[in-house]
Amino acid sequence: MNTLLYESHDFIGVLTLNRPQALNAFNSEMVDELLALFPDLAKEKLRCLIITGSGEKAFMAGADIAEMNALPYEKAVHYYCDASNAAMEAVEQFPAPVIAAVNGYALGGGNELALSCDIRLASENAVFAQPEVSLGIMPGSGGIQRLMRAVGPGKAKELLYTTRRLKAEEALAIGLVNAVYPREELMPAAVAMAEKIAANAPVGVAATKRIANASIGMTLEESYRLELEAFGGCFKTNDQKMAMTAFVEKRKPEPFTGN
Ligand code: CAA
Repeated sequence: MNTLLYESHDFIGVLTLNRPQALNAFNSEMVDELLALFPDLAKEKLRCLIITGSGEKAFMAGADIAEMNALPYEKAVHYYCDASNAAMEAVEQFPAPVIAAVNGYALGGGNELALSCDIRLASENAVFAQPEVSLGIMPGSGGIQRLMRAVGPGKAKELLYTTRRLKAEEALAIGLVNAVYPREELMPAAVAMAEKIAANAPVGVAATKRIANASIGMTLEESYRLELEAFGGCFKTNDQKMAMTAFVEKRKPEPFTGN
């Protein structure tokens, strides 16, 4: 891979967006690499994935404006809307929780990627914005929809129409991020959260994510039906029997196995 770095240990993966020369802006190559990588990652049985950006300044400065501007219409629309949407979807539907460790600029597609993650942690130098309409386009990778869900329609529309940049503290105040840390504490905090998630029952966590995502746009009644099936699935695991028996017998549970 040219545009991504990946490593994992103890069920936790760290994916680093790696085009520091362009502040990790995504281009067609990065979109192709993300789309190729996620099916492989899904087979790894990760319990949590962290996404961050390389370098000191940026998580991702959005789409690569130079490439987008130079591509013919069909390719521009493909890579910067259709395929990038599929990449965001792969992140959102990833079978384990995904934490965005936003270590600087998260602009345009960068904010859209962070919004596709389950949880957003930011460093104090993080900056968020959707600058698309200042470039003659509109957000094309699910950012309109996910921003509305994350911060509510009024605030989202203000940010989308004005392109105003938010500093980390304001992003925290409106619920766009879960927590803000000094820059050097961001990755340790993300790893600590990932370890806490990874210590829980993998089948239960994955089912919780699936139901949480699926329930957006469903009636409660519809989501109850899905929940019943997912809850039953947890009851068929050894982890459930082990953890509940340990509680009843007043002893510590064994580590979860995912079975
Ligand atoms: N595309 C291509 N190159 C980019 C880039 C981008 N989105 N963002 C930064 N770069 C490049 C710069 O051109 C520069 O390259 P050179 O050194 O070769 O000149 C390098 O990264 C460093 O950037 P700056 O010199 O501009 O750094 P700065 O600290 O002065 O400014 C910044 C940082 C405010 C993030 C500024 O770079 C910027 O405004 N970038 C564009 C952000 C943006 O508008 N993103 C949205 C794109 S549209 C989109 O994302 C929608 C979609 O999904 C389809």
